Amino acid sequence: MKHATSIVFWAAMAFNSVRSAETPAAVEERKPHASITIATDAPTVKYSPMIFGGFLEHFDHQVYGGIYDPGSPLADTNGFRRDVIAALKELRVPVVRWPGGCFVSGYHWELGVGIRQPTDDMVWGVIEPNTFGTDEYVKLCRVLGWEPYICNNAGNGTIPEMKHWVEYCNATNGKYADLRKANGYAEPRDVPIWSIGNENYWPTEIGHKPIEQWAPFVAEAAKAMKAADPGIKLTAAAQATRQWALPLLKEAGPYLDYISIHGYWFPFWEKNGTPDYLTCIMKAEEPEKSLTNFIGILDESGYRGKIKIAYDEWNMRSWHHPGFPRMTVQKYSDPEVQRLIKARDLNEIASQYTMADALFSASFFNACLRHADDVGMANIAPIINTRGPLFVSSNGIVKRTHFHAMAMYANELQPRVGKVDFTADNLTQGAHSVPVADVVATVNESGTQWAIALVNRHPSQPLACTVRFQKQPLDGTYSAVVLAGDSPEAFNDIEHPNRVVPEKKQFTVKQGALELPPHSLTILNVPAPGVK
Ligand code: AHR
Repeated sequence: MKHATSIVFWAAMAFNSVRSAETPAAVEERKPHASITIATDAPTVKYSPMIFGGFLEHFDHQVYGGIYDPGSPLADTNGFRRDVIAALKELRVPVVRWPGGCFVSGYHWELGVGIRQPTDDMVWGVIEPNTFGTDEYVKLCRVLGWEPYICNNAGNGTIPEMKHWVEYCNATNGKYADLRKANGYAEPRDVPIWSIGNENYWPTEIGHKPIEQWAPFVAEAAKAMKAADPGIKLTAAAQATRQWALPLLKEAGPYLDYISIHGYWFPFWEKNGTPDYLTCIMKAEEPEKSLTNFIGILDESGYRGKIKIAYDEWNMRSWHHPGFPRMTVQKYSDPEVQRLIKARDLNEIASQYTMADALFSASFFNACLRHADDVGMANIAPIINTRGPLFVSSNGIVKRTHFHAMAMYANELQPRVGKVDFTADNLTQGAHSVPVADVVATVNESGTQWAIALVNRHPSQPLACTVRFQKQPLDGTYSAVVLAGDSPEAFNDIEHPNRVVPEKKQFTVKQGALELPPHSLTILNVPAPGVK
């Protein structure tokens, strides 16, 4: 059942107006406007809560010094940081992909179970302690209520090795079930979701394979992993292009439940950048364009409706790791290697994560909600540290702006997405423009209660909205949660952890007139027409 969201733009009203001779000295910016109609009689779609998923890689301080820090006074008996656990529970993340990412293409899972020895992580140029492995990951999933989702090593891993990992986790008997039992886990760990590989299309990925080799490899690996446990859900790494995805689906489509794509919209891998709010916001429509494009490819393959999209790495900003990933063991004493690894600290600069990250993330979620028929999962990359919503230091945590946006979506929305038609002025920066507003409407199963997510992207102007249910303008006082901050560049850090926090508000709407604060996300709770 499709629902269409039509966004028809009015003539672009450039808010960075060019002054002309007759223009008054101070150009008074007209308050931007959006007209929003919620089609309460249209079909609604139940979306997968797994679009609010996460990703945890053995990279920098995501695992070690992030969630897992046995030596910390803040850690529990499992070595998990109690404060991090408490914060992550607020996000109600339903699934977390692990252990990579590029890391996994050089990872041999057996080194991370039973007796552990440190090994070389040749991808990221550091030593892998192996103290956090499959069993610790599954334990963490149980503590946090995450569906375990393991990305398998299709880099320098072999198909038998990939199959044995599934057996170790899910088999009731056999050599690898016996190994699990010997490690103290009598019962299967029940890992339901598995990926075949990570970005094996990149030449920089260990075990890179051209599509002619990748497609048959995925088919064979899928058969082997399904033989180990026919009940698992499988996905495979795919470049979001016809050249890659069509041959992959042709050959391996019968064995896949998802197909994985990734998206980062600022390429900061080699050179970190700190674009201003407006520059960031000009990217806010890109995720939907990428989804629409890939849905077209899925349609062309004939697998649309059978295979769902797993957007299992996404973030507005790519991670910063100059000079890496690599494919060989590094000389750890090499000052250049040490300099490059130290450069990763730039990911942790708090002031980078402004209202742009919150509102971009809101629009990413809106895109997934609008395409709920086709999107089965999405995983913010990562969930902890690096570019993630939760920053973890040795003595505390900081909920970045996009943490709060994620928490609002996870906790305030209703479980079904409805049809919204809206028109909005444009917000313009140079040659770029995006609608000043973004809107998605969700409703409960009985159709009696709506939760409408409204984004005002304007950096300084309130957004004047006219909101209707069908032709009926909204009238009444409604509760809402608003995330705005005191500036578009506002951020949270250790010294000011609560500069940007969600606030509960009441909105009185007369004849449909609703005004949203600048640079804000609002989730408005509205009873369906006729419901008190
Ligand atoms: O920058 C981190 C990397 O981004 C992940 O390890 C990989 O999957 C993606 O290319």
